[in-house]
Amino acid sequence: TEVKRTFPENFLWGGATAANQLEGAYNEDGKGLTIADVSPGGKDRMKLLRSEDYPLEIDTDKYTYPNHKGIDFYHRYKEDIALFAEMGFKTFRMSISWARIFPNGDDQAPNEAGLQFYDNVIDELLKHNIEPTITMSHYETPLNLVKAYGGWKNRKLVDFFEVYARTILERYHHKVKYWMTFNEINTGVGGSFFSVAMRNATEQENFQALHHQFVASSIATKIAHELNPNIKVGCMSIYATMYAYDSNPQTVLAMKERNRMFNYFCNDIQVRGEYPSYAISYFKQHGIELDILPGDLDLIKNYTVDYLSFSYYMSSVISTDPNHQGVSGNFLGGTRNPFLEASDWGWEIDPVGLRIALGDLYERYGVPLYVSENGLGAIDTPDANFVINDDYRIDYLRKHIAEMEKAINLDGVDLFAYTPWGCIDLVSASTGEMSKRYGFIYVDLDDDGNGTMNRYKKKSFNWYKNVIASNGLDE
Ligand code: BG6
Repeated sequence: TEVKRTFPENFLWGGATAANQLEGAYNEDGKGLTIADVSPGGKDRMKLLRSEDYPLEIDTDKYTYPNHKGIDFYHRYKEDIALFAEMGFKTFRMSISWARIFPNGDDQAPNEAGLQFYDNVIDELLKHNIEPTITMSHYETPLNLVKAYGGWKNRKLVDFFEVYARTILERYHHKVKYWMTFNEINTGVGGSFFSVAMRNATEQENFQALHHQFVASSIATKIAHELNPNIKVGCMSIYATMYAYDSNPQTVLAMKERNRMFNYFCNDIQVRGEYPSYAISYFKQHGIELDILPGDLDLIKNYTVDYLSFSYYMSSVISTDPNHQGVSGNFLGGTRNPFLEASDWGWEIDPVGLRIALGDLYERYGVPLYVSENGLGAIDTPDANFVINDDYRIDYLRKHIAEMEKAINLDGVDLFAYTPWGCIDLVSASTGEMSKRYGFIYVDLDDDGNGTMNRYKKKSFNWYKNVIASNGLDE
């Protein structure tokens, strides 16, 4: 009989979240405002945030701010963690909200109440034998650092981040082994507001901001390893497997150029420890001159990451055909892929693309990999008893897990963790919607903030529980 292939022993199954998207309690116990707190709900969110006409202030007459109450994890974390434990989670990826610890980002002393909250959450996880994975900065830079300092293009943010990183590492290093520095750091290449906390920046400023994050990330890695050599610090990028639409060499070239700037640039620096030659050439050609202080390049070289993590939702097709220009394939650009179906939000579903991604990343870097986000944002329709048959979600995850298994066993990839995004329904980053749900756990809350916030297990809850119990064999 055929032996069913499985995942490695001690594989870290779990789920992923970010503080700003689930905690709520946005102004409780001394927390300061973050960029997420001034991000309005709705499909225009990204457009508004990019527009200079939109003040980065709270105006509840005009807008709603779903992140303010999130799903109230701040008060319900015990119940939620018990549900994660019931599914058998080995790890829970969460972020610390910087502004809970340093309300303005530049404060002299940390806010003890904020530190205490994360002590409680971490202890609760450990009580259930769930290993925390902590992202230090997940789209929630303190707002004051944008207003008073202009965001990450300002070198001072490196110093502020160092103080913050040291504070949380000193506090939790004996309890938390897995860390990530910046969430989806490569979205800064395109100047994402969430990532670099700047609006309408020039390309020069975007790369300068990224340079500051690379230095800050290496400093955090240095502190972590000095405190505790067992700690593993990872980088975190969004990855979209790139395809050339056709075999025209010009198309393949265009795809490769996009691929290296989007998928590889940040990983090359954070894993290999130096600016790649293609980036140096790019900077020259585009008149980009980075302000690099003495010691920066040594830090980047000496404190590379221990593992590489990435989010994977979709692939992207690059075309040079004029007929395809302006035809948007999905959220991350490119044209439509005729072989793939898309989610309700137009994100193309591509499980095999994940296997390709894992193979490419492992061949290039040879460090352990962690799939830190993956999942299907979908509309769930509960019946009168809150039964939710989310077979579409099970189908999506099952196919991605099957491809991960092939990457491990057939392609020889060292993959050690998988944390599907939004394991409990939470506020969407790109639209602020609650109705774009990813969870195994349904939260009774709508886009306007109405609902009991009660939690209900979806069909996928038991399915994922079985996946974990059988270490990847879901039948
Ligand atoms: C990633 C982010 O880009 O994708 C998460 O790290 C985000 O914060 C997730 O929530 C899914 O995106 P969205 O827009 O559907 O919430």
